[in-house]
Amino acid sequence: MAQAASGSLWWQHGIVYQVYPRSFQDTNGDGVGDLPGIHRRLDYLASLGVDAVWISPIYPSPMADFGYDVADYCDIDPLFGTLADFDALVAEAHARGLKVILDFVPNHTSDRHPWFLDSRSSRKSAKRDWYIWRDGKPDGAPPNNWISHFGGPAWTFDEATGQWYLHSFLRQQPDLNWRNADVRAAMYDALRFWLDRGVDGFRVDVIWLLIKDEALRDNPLNPTWQPPGAEIGKLIQFYNADRPEVHDVIAEMRAVLDEFNERVLIGEIYLPLERLVTYYGKELKGAQLPFNFQLLETAWNARAIAKAIEDYERLLPSGGWPNWVLGNHDRPRIAARVGERQARVAAMLLMTLRGTPTIYYGDEIGLSRVEIPPEAVQDPWGINEPDQGRDPSRTPMQWDGGPQAGFTSGKPWLPLSDDHAARNVAALEADAGSVLNLYRALIALRRAHLALSVGAFRLRAVDDDVLVYERSSGDERLVVALNLSSHDRPLPDALAGVSVLISTHGDRSGVRDGTPLRADEGLVLKP
Ligand code: GLC
Repeated sequence: MAQAASGSLWWQHGIVYQVYPRSFQDTNGDGVGDLPGIHRRLDYLASLGVDAVWISPIYPSPMADFGYDVADYCDIDPLFGTLADFDALVAEAHARGLKVILDFVPNHTSDRHPWFLDSRSSRKSAKRDWYIWRDGKPDGAPPNNWISHFGGPAWTFDEATGQWYLHSFLRQQPDLNWRNADVRAAMYDALRFWLDRGVDGFRVDVIWLLIKDEALRDNPLNPTWQPPGAEIGKLIQFYNADRPEVHDVIAEMRAVLDEFNERVLIGEIYLPLERLVTYYGKELKGAQLPFNFQLLETAWNARAIAKAIEDYERLLPSGGWPNWVLGNHDRPRIAARVGERQARVAAMLLMTLRGTPTIYYGDEIGLSRVEIPPEAVQDPWGINEPDQGRDPSRTPMQWDGGPQAGFTSGKPWLPLSDDHAARNVAALEADAGSVLNLYRALIALRRAHLALSVGAFRLRAVDDDVLVYERSSGDERLVVALNLSSHDRPLPDALAGVSVLISTHGDRSGVRDGTPLRADEGLVLKP
């Protein structure tokens, strides 16, 4: 058992790093990242000090939703490489002490998946019930009022068999029927296929949507919806999401992982905290890490962040391990949301909170929103609903000052940021005060101090601008003071003159100078 001194498991004290494979490193000049590219950058990831790499989907796919439309759960899309490339990647990652987490997309397949082709071929198909087919209303309307997450109705009419099929996302992503035992068995076998190959866990896509109301009742209207909110928000997601029976499915999935040693089940769940925490499951036999997305959504001020932390800590079930996420491929990047200076404070927050942190690739070099010209938009959601486009957060990683920032020798599938000549790993590595070196130092600090990774959390003070908390383990006690404002603020009296382990400004580590918290500064202090 790979346990730290504290007795914690790798996915508890470890740090997860999300790679969006299309945008990480291209090796064959097609402008899209690939598995040999991730392989090439393993040394970078190991040197950064992260523990696990979560790779967004790499399965064969028509790419209608860039891999979240899977046509075969047990292979690799040629765009990304081969199973041999994958095995080599896992072996080399493991040789460096890095775990590999795959994205698993169980809610829907591609409409080109052989299962769906069979299912739609006839009402008598043995796989008909693997998807959710219904008759329309007598007036020709779809079976109910549900809206797709990407806009438009969640139902598409199939001329050949005269019924509608449900798709919570694109019409090219038909929803599987998780009430069908054969679907479950087939999907669990897909999990085993990868677990047998040495995969250390899964991030399960939209896990809270897997089970729908048996009667498929209409969702209630949402009286608070306003434009330009996404169309899906017009309805309250009640009968299509977070259904009680979903927990049985998740417990089964978890049992499959538990057939193997120390694997982790991470669930993608966008729900209020009270609901989110139920995903740890009965007796903690659900997801070990139901993703906690509060930092993606909370107002960026000291009081709101303090409340997010305290509410979460209070609601966690006994024994449930916390986690924190600062960015992902679906949401605006942290630098775009709070600005470059506060993004450094956010990095310190992420690396000093209790619970497993997930870093989104590129955040460590301060990538921000990259504007995409309308003719270059790729994201199907962005095409349907331009305000919702996710491309600005999915642009290529910037490695060096060469052409295309070292990402590709061809034309990148999405544009680089305008400042890529300066904002790249090589340039930032050479700059002691860079955000990349801040990330490196924070990660190293977290690894060096159990108090930061697995220690207890206690809020010490909060006002309109400053958040102060303590992390402790055994005899060690560290204090984190974050200035969420853009003006200088005094440190609480008890902390004046204590030793600074690290400042987000990168210029006074190791000193004991009693200076106040400067604008947008975060400090880790050792009383
Ligand atoms: C999840 C993924 C997102 C994808 C959607 C449909 O939310 O993170 O990228 O489009 O599910 O699979």
